[in-house]
Amino acid sequence: MYNFLPYAYFQNKFVPFAEATLSIATHALHYGTGAFGGLRGIPDPQDSTQILLFRLDRHCQRLSQSAKFLHYNLPPEKIQEIIVDFVKKNQPNTSFYIRPFIFTSDLGIAPRLHNIEKSFAIYGLELGDYLSPEGVSCRISSWCRQEDVSFPLRGKISGAYITSSLAKTEAVESGFDEAILMNSQGKVSEASGMNIFIVRNGKIITPGFEHDILEGITRDSVLTIAQDLGIPIQERAVDKSELLIADEVFLSGTAAKVVPVKRIENYYLPEHRPITEKLREKLIAITENREPNYRDWVFPISI
Ligand SMILES: Cc1ncc(COP(=O)(O)O)c(C=O)c1O
Repeated sequence: MYNFLPYAYFQNKFVPFAEATLSIATHALHYGTGAFGGLRGIPDPQDSTQILLFRLDRHCQRLSQSAKFLHYNLPPEKIQEIIVDFVKKNQPNTSFYIRPFIFTSDLGIAPRLHNIEKSFAIYGLELGDYLSPEGVSCRISSWCRQEDVSFPLRGKISGAYITSSLAKTEAVESGFDEAILMNSQGKVSEASGMNIFIVRNGKIITPGFEHDILEGITRDSVLTIAQDLGIPIQERAVDKSELLIADEVFLSGTAAKVVPVKRIENYYLPEHRPITEKLREKLIAITENREPNYRDWVFPISI
């Protein structure tokens, strides 16, 4: 189903992807004690000798911060250096996704983060559209997003994804494409692997960090682009009822990019989505290095 890139980074070296394997007793597999990143790259459409990675520095910074929750010191510069070598080694020739991750790699039982070996690894795969750019239908999940009092939400921690998985499967098995999770206060939080935005009266509105969202890098990009385009933005609580009557709703994430929401539960959203379209097109142009003002978001790697 997936085309994996030929080499993985595993146990401090590059090995063929098929050789990067683990024991069934690996600690993180049982306890969700991992943290991961996910970033996209493309061959430079203007220069065949280059690969472009989107916001590499921010992704390395977030992963390094997530690693702190695992009691693992991995400086962003180190992550960046290995990702660059990974891309040079793999020489991808189509749109791809890189998954760098840290996990408790010792064998055996007892949930803990002290006195246990951790490892850093990377694999990659070819990736086109993760969700249909034409738009998706969403179910409001019966599962709530976790709270920071019981879970380090400022990290991208593997264990959190049981909730995303429950919500996504509940949505898909009941005929929807995606799930929207509320937080424990009943306010809109995010989708299973994307942040969420609504548009009302020409303004874009998105839940703030206090609504238990992941610190999405695409979310940050969308907010900056909107600001630069002169579109008013608000980071604030979003009620469920506001979601249902919004002029536009869209999701943002590295895998999904910017994807419009067509329907939420039994409410159909307008098909005219001028702001979503504008932001989506601009974001794609930036990732393809067609926007000189955003060159510092695009990291070129010579291959
Ligand atoms: C739960 C969750 N929220 C939001 C996002 C969007 O984050 P980003 O734009 O950094 O990919 C992701 C994807 O990483 C995610 O897994």
